[in-house]
Amino acid sequence: MLLYIDACVRKDSRTRRLAECLLQTLNQPYEKVELIECDFPKVDEAFLVEKDRLINEGAYSDPLFDYARQFSEADEIVIAAPYWDLSFPTILKAYLEQVNVSDITFRYTPEGMPESLCRAKKLYYVTTAGGEFFPEEYGFGYVKALAQNFYGIQDVELIKAKRLDLEGESVEQILADCEKEIVRRFKAA
Ligand SMILES: Cc1cc2nc3c(=O)[nH]c(=O)nc-3n(C[C@H](O)[C@H](O)[C@H](O)COP(=O)(O)O)c2cc1C
Repeated sequence: MLLYIDACVRKDSRTRRLAECLLQTLNQPYEKVELIECDFPKVDEAFLVEKDRLINEGAYSDPLFDYARQFSEADEIVIAAPYWDLSFPTILKAYLEQVNVSDITFRYTPEGMPESLCRAKKLYYVTTAGGEFFPEEYGFGYVKALAQNFYGIQDVELIKAKRLDLEGESVEQILADCEKEIVRRFKAA
């Protein structure tokens, strides 16, 4: 199963448009999680205590772990997230806090290193930025580090378009060029 995690906020999101082009290109059925519609529990101390209690009891089928189980069972993952304040919207971090559950998506080795319990071997990260200054390390870089080190997903692809909010730029042209690039890179031969 392909899992599509939509962390876009705006109704007319350009990032989502590119992600939908990618999904069409990949041409597989998928499950979608629309993060803006999700009401994640607040990760306060009571939440952490309850989460630990369930893990200690081995109650992995509890609804608290629905997102983590779905993530761990996906064969491929597509994340769409606009570039916000050098990274991505809070909803994506809130989602990852629900997904990062020891004994479901990863576990620690006796040496204290994370080891994957996820099935996926490939993750696509789609993002767009308003400007030209678009360092990758805090948004994409963070997700890539998590994917590779916790979830065992070594193959992480970045799809990005930038300068979408600059005066004089043709947004349509930038998006159309990126869509062409998506088809070129990811259409099955
Ligand atoms: C809260 C917020 C923060 C943003 N931060 C940045 C930023 O740090 N750098 C940048 O180039 N653009 C920034 N932008 C502009 C967006 O990256 C740009 O408009 C992007 O295309 C939005 O994607 P969307 O059309 O999918 O919503 C920001 C926009 C918002 C709303």
